[in-house]
Amino acid sequence: MHDTSQAVLVTGGAGFIGSNFVLNWIGEAASPVINLDLLTYAGNPANLAQIENDTRHTFVRGDICDADGIAKLLREHKPRAIVHFAAESHVDRSISDPGAFIRTNVQGTGTLLEQARLYWSELNPGSKQQFRFLHVSTDEVYGSLGPDDPAFSESTAYAPNSPYAASKASSDHLVRAYYHTFGLPVVTTNCSNNYGPFQFPEKLIPLMILNALEGKPLPVYGDGQNVRDWLFVEDHCSAIRAVLERGRLGETYNIGGNSERKNLDVVTVICDLVDEIAADGKPEPRRKLITFVTDRPGHDRRYAINATKIRDEIGWEPAQDFEEGLRRTVAWYLGNKSWVENVRTGAYRDWIRRNYDERVPQ
Ligand code: NAD
Ligand code: TYD
Repeated sequence: MHDTSQAVLVTGGAGFIGSNFVLNWIGEAASPVINLDLLTYAGNPANLAQIENDTRHTFVRGDICDADGIAKLLREHKPRAIVHFAAESHVDRSISDPGAFIRTNVQGTGTLLEQARLYWSELNPGSKQQFRFLHVSTDEVYGSLGPDDPAFSESTAYAPNSPYAASKASSDHLVRAYYHTFGLPVVTTNCSNNYGPFQFPEKLIPLMILNALEGKPLPVYGDGQNVRDWLFVEDHCSAIRAVLERGRLGETYNIGGNSERKNLDVVTVICDLVDEIAADGKPEPRRKLITFVTDRPGHDRRYAINATKIRDEIGWEPAQDFEEGLRRTVAWYLGNKSWVENVRTGAYRDWIRRNYDERVPQ
């Protein structure tokens, strides 16, 4: 058994998945969390409002590229594990500013790994054996599938197509190298698209919910037939906790929702849910807001995850059915208006202008 007084260091715990992870962790585990986050446009302290006064949670604003800052944090808190979420995470932004992705995802992960190695190498044998570095990655490293291709497994060759996917692939390779070269006890997870509360409304599902609510056009890229395998964020968090406790060192685990859906179908369901839940008597069905716009360059056609390894080895399976999870998510965005207003900063409005003004209706 682990000593539950020993903290876990989470990076990126003010972002979408990281904040859900921290909230779940504090809800279920007895041990403290140190939350290191730079608070970029994607990091939002309001995500953590529920645990503002909880002494088990320590928030530290800092950069994963800052070696000295990380070294100090590790010396001070002596965590038993690092769960690494911090990243630039939006594909469209990686097309307009790849440098930020190379800095945070590649250089930042490299810096964190090196500081983790230095810290870990000084631990006593018991703590050294217990220590884990869990790297949270994506299925996008595997590239794009055709309609009849088998789903991505852990042995699928890496073939990243966007600067985001390439930067995450690089970080995965660095993590692997730290295991093989230095013996750092690492585990990597590669997960499919997440959705749920606290997702920044630049990503498909929250963007469509909020635009639909306000009667704005719903910008579907290309023909809308691209497929993603959707996973409710709480299921991702439970998978990470399971891998942290039971994952084999040096291994990678694919995590997916067994919920492949075409984008157009997802957006259509969102329209119907907003019509139903908002019940604001808008005369036109929101499906009429769907607008096909210029495709994303290099847009991956299909992602699908074969999650049998994590099921068979770790005993994890997703609990949330997609349609019910989407209903919960729409209800959450409609019920949390102050959170929505809070994220709609000037920087957010600038991004929406830059990304969508150039996309012409098809
Ligand atoms: P997000 O963009 O919502 O959050 C990223 C967080 O990292 C933010 O809080 C941000 O402030 C922080 N951050 C960014 N740069 C930093 C830096 N240099 N130092 C410290 N903190 C920094 O991302 P997310 O959707 O929550 O994704 C979290 C992780 O999960 C990422 O590594 C992503 O690649 C991976 N992932 C995401 C999905 C998904 O569907 N969102 C799916 C699979 C894997
Ligand atoms: P996104 O949420 O950006 O996740 P990812 O690119 O990591 O899969 O996009 C999900 C899918 O939705 C992807 O195929 C691109 C598409 N999409 C749109 O059609 N319109 C949009 O405005 C956005 C943001 C995404």
